[in-house]
Amino acid sequence: MKKSIRIIFILVIGILPMRLLSQAIAIPIQIIPAPQQITQSEGQFFFNENTQLVFDNKNSELKNTAIYLQSFLAKATNLPFKVSTKNAPDNNVIYISIDTNLELPSPEGYQLIITKNKVSIIGNSLAGVFYGIQSMRQLLPAAIENNGNVKSLLQFQLPCLQITDYPKFSWRGLNLDCCRHFMDKAFILHYLDVLAYYKMNKFHWHLTEDQAWRIEIKKYPKLTSVGAFRKEKEGNIYGGFYTQADIKEVVAYAAKLNIEVIPEIEMPGHSMAAIAAYPGLSCTKAPLAVANTWGVFKDIYCAGSDSTFIFLENVLTEVFALFPSKYIHIGGDEAPKYRWENCAACQQRMQNEKLKDAHELQSYFIKRIEKFANSNGKKIIGWDEILEGGLAPNATVQSWRGVEGAIAAVNSQHDAIVSPTSHCYFDYSLKSIDLAKVYSFNPIPAGISAENEKYILGGECNMWTEKAPQNLVDSKVFPRLLALAEVLWTNPMPRNFEAFNQRVESHYPRLTSLGIQYGFDKQAITFSIQVNPMAKAFQVELIPAQADLKIVYTLDQSLPQIGNPKAMPYQKTIELQQAGILKAAIQQADTNQLEVFSRQFDIHQAIAKPCTIKVKPSDSYTANGANSLVDGLIGSIDFHDGLWLGFQQNNLEAIIDLGENQKINSIQAHFLQSMPSWILFPESVSLYTSSDGIQFKLYKVMENKFPQNVSETSMQNFTFDLSNTATRYIKVIAKKVDKCPEWHEAAGSEAWLFVDEISIY
Ligand code: ACM
Ligand code: ZN
Repeated sequence: MKKSIRIIFILVIGILPMRLLSQAIAIPIQIIPAPQQITQSEGQFFFNENTQLVFDNKNSELKNTAIYLQSFLAKATNLPFKVSTKNAPDNNVIYISIDTNLELPSPEGYQLIITKNKVSIIGNSLAGVFYGIQSMRQLLPAAIENNGNVKSLLQFQLPCLQITDYPKFSWRGLNLDCCRHFMDKAFILHYLDVLAYYKMNKFHWHLTEDQAWRIEIKKYPKLTSVGAFRKEKEGNIYGGFYTQADIKEVVAYAAKLNIEVIPEIEMPGHSMAAIAAYPGLSCTKAPLAVANTWGVFKDIYCAGSDSTFIFLENVLTEVFALFPSKYIHIGGDEAPKYRWENCAACQQRMQNEKLKDAHELQSYFIKRIEKFANSNGKKIIGWDEILEGGLAPNATVQSWRGVEGAIAAVNSQHDAIVSPTSHCYFDYSLKSIDLAKVYSFNPIPAGISAENEKYILGGECNMWTEKAPQNLVDSKVFPRLLALAEVLWTNPMPRNFEAFNQRVESHYPRLTSLGIQYGFDKQAITFSIQVNPMAKAFQVELIPAQADLKIVYTLDQSLPQIGNPKAMPYQKTIELQQAGILKAAIQQADTNQLEVFSRQFDIHQAIAKPCTIKVKPSDSYTANGANSLVDGLIGSIDFHDGLWLGFQQNNLEAIIDLGENQKINSIQAHFLQSMPSWILFPESVSLYTSSDGIQFKLYKVMENKFPQNVSETSMQNFTFDLSNTATRYIKVIAKKVDKCPEWHEAAGSEAWLFVDEISIY
């Protein structure tokens, strides 16, 4: 949400007299993704009423491309630029052609050569020409995206240059979840336009889920008549679906924009909407409703019944006919195995097929579907769980729980698409993934050989929509998509984020012209906190994402908004000398949009004392390592806030050294629970004391007494009363719940333990 200074400059020079223009300073090249090579030269090409769009008649398909070019130039200027193929003067023309001998590393490559008399766009293929046009479009002022907005053709000038450009990766995608929230067809078509503008070429369309089935299947009408609608907790019915005619329209529209549409039909998990429509598909066969909460659910397709496979094959047959892509995404993620372990048919299948566990049954399931897909000329893609129990022979793996899935896939000569939660989950808040973080993404994971790099097809961003109805999607996808587009196309090495960010700023007016309601590039308010353990005080600086944003804050837990007399304007570093909660927000009139940033401070004896942990947390939740446990900052209810340590494989074992024997009154260890995210309070917390750091004495074991089967995310302190016990070292062992218990929808899956501050008083 920044204003561009640079683009205004271009508009201003647009109204200067021609004589001055020829002396104008070189127009900055702000193309995103940045072209691989640019050589700028003197002068400009000026459009006028007689500029012609000429296509090489050796490639008849170029006519449509020329008409596409004509249509958006005409839209901007209301001028009917003439399209022709021969007898055109080699002067005052935009010439498009295909040259398959360009010797660029990708068929999507192109050259864009602009001289004073002529603009030539030479593609390695039709796609290359299309991308050359996108680059040319980005060299023109943002106003060209607005209908009839270009009042003077003097604005229509292009800098003389030569661009040679091609993508590093052939797979540059967006995965849009149209199930958790329905996105209407017009919105999808609009997204395709904007994806193409940034040279993205894959639209991964997430069409089936627990909460909805969104694609019409003629053989199974209940999939949409029942499965496309859910009864919300408030009682209203929410839903919608795409007819086969809608799908064909989207696919055809995408094809014109060089975008391949890959449908995702989830199996064996995330399938409650289908089961709600046809209960015979599950192990229990019991009727159930389309899910109206988020998370992972126990009821999945029965792997023991052949009727499941007949159903899926019939569904896929219709899907294959609608989507020309050679790929079908079959999901495969987050399928709890509890029902299979308790289903006679599934157990029988395991016995017959000599499968040793439920993971092998999942592998059997996916391989059986792969065989069907392959026999229909299609290749499957699955989330990285499809590696478990043995990968299907020809499958492509989409790595999401980190990049390990991609590494495992390419090491066994399987293709991989990378979209890890660390960099590519655009549903995550800017607190954890901001523009700079996306821009730092390297799609080639460390640890794969140069020879195997070719199996990394590219990457995707994932836009899951549990928390994003259609009207919020723009603010999450943009501007982060611009960073991913450049990572996947240009893949610059090394990266210069500051320079990239300047180009992004110049694109905000373009995004506005394109009708995109983009969000911030980083979280609106960042905390910079210094702790002074001697003075027992914190210095808190609040940094706005943009200098012109005003911040208000409170210290009494009330909302920091206009009209609250306790809300103070932020002017300078705040000094806090006692425990409390600081809440801050950008000052704005619309309090419905209020986003509150908060930090909870605690003042205790262990702040900034040496702290070690025996086994490091999961890479996704490292916070600031062991120091986070003694930094005086207590994690918030948002477990992505960067303050929590998360463990999925190990218990927490932390040792804090107070420096000398001290009398301790009490100790509070803070934990978080989020049942739908498989994060559970610890089974028990044990406290040990020691004066030498070698011999530890067990002080107390505290079993968890807080309820776990509650859907709300909550935080609890495990509090130990030490009654003035003297100790120098404190050891805390928090024993995590091993697997999600039977009552849990993800029963049997590895549970998480989340811990933050260990406060010592
Ligand atoms: C996923 O995020 N469950 C692929
Ligand atoms: Zn079963």
